Amino acid sequence: MEIQAFGYLGVGSSDLDDWAAFATSTVGMQPVDRASSMRAFRMDDRKQRLFIDRAIEPGTQVFGWEVANAAALDQLAARLEAAGVAVKREPANLADQRCVAGLISFADPAGNRLEAFHGAQIADAPFKPSRDISGFRTGPQGMGHTLLTVPDIDAALAFYKDLLGFRISDFIVAPLKAYFLHVNPRHHSVALVAAPVRSMHHLLVEYYLLDDVGQGFDLLQNAPEKIVSTIGRHSNDLMTSYYMRTPSEIYVECGWGGKDVDDATPPAEMASVASFWGHKGLFEDIGAPPSAAPEVGSRRAPVQVIEGNYNRMAGVCQWWDEARRNR
Ligand SMILES: [Fe+2]
Repeated sequence: MEIQAFGYLGVGSSDLDDWAAFATSTVGMQPVDRASSMRAFRMDDRKQRLFIDRAIEPGTQVFGWEVANAAALDQLAARLEAAGVAVKREPANLADQRCVAGLISFADPAGNRLEAFHGAQIADAPFKPSRDISGFRTGPQGMGHTLLTVPDIDAALAFYKDLLGFRISDFIVAPLKAYFLHVNPRHHSVALVAAPVRSMHHLLVEYYLLDDVGQGFDLLQNAPEKIVSTIGRHSNDLMTSYYMRTPSEIYVECGWGGKDVDDATPPAEMASVASFWGHKGLFEDIGAPPSAAPEVGSRRAPVQVIEGNYNRMAGVCQWWDEARRNR
């Protein structure tokens, strides 16, 4: 299927200055000079990944899904139309605003505005983070992931999986119903959670080094009202992260060490979405039942590292070798 990555996010808000302060000094993104009615931010070599726009209805978002080229975009548009989904071929001025070569727009069954695009523009100058971070893990894994709550999860799942080509990494049916879907090695680019109302819960951004997460959490101690959860480790994508409030109703999850998935592994059913540890406040915030509360000390997994952000210890430990053999 055509969709390759979560390419950009647009947020409808008029709190442009608050968002600019948040995206730069708190998250570490780089501001980009744009029209006065919006603010845009870089996370990597692309001209923009996140934009805050007064022209987008406040409280709503625009989700940009990347395809390889114009032919893939046409193919996706044709398949959507054949399935009865209204598709708009957007004009060149909107493509310019999005910093892409071409795009279409359509809605998911919950009413979220989705855009599919190709040809993201690359900036002339190297990415320069606004706070001292190692950088964001993007590239083939896209800008991160998002979690959406939807009133009709079966319709949403059919749309994202069967029509758009997302694959299920894992899912849970009780005590809550949720599906984690991937389009590349990132464990999930979108998570769908059944809830009475449609909403975007959070955007995940992933840093290269764990220290970026810890230092970001330290910075938040000056503004404790912004903290949604403590640092914790998720049990499915193995992300070590914390959650914080933004100037809008959505949250940002700042993480490190998410695991890769492949299409050969069948979807796994989870019995719980509780974290291995931490994330205190997160499950309470989403109104999860007490059974979703972490079971302290009962589960663990190796850290998920990428080449270049670890040093392998030279020593050997007989006790550890024995422990690994017996796992
Ligand atoms: Fe997340």
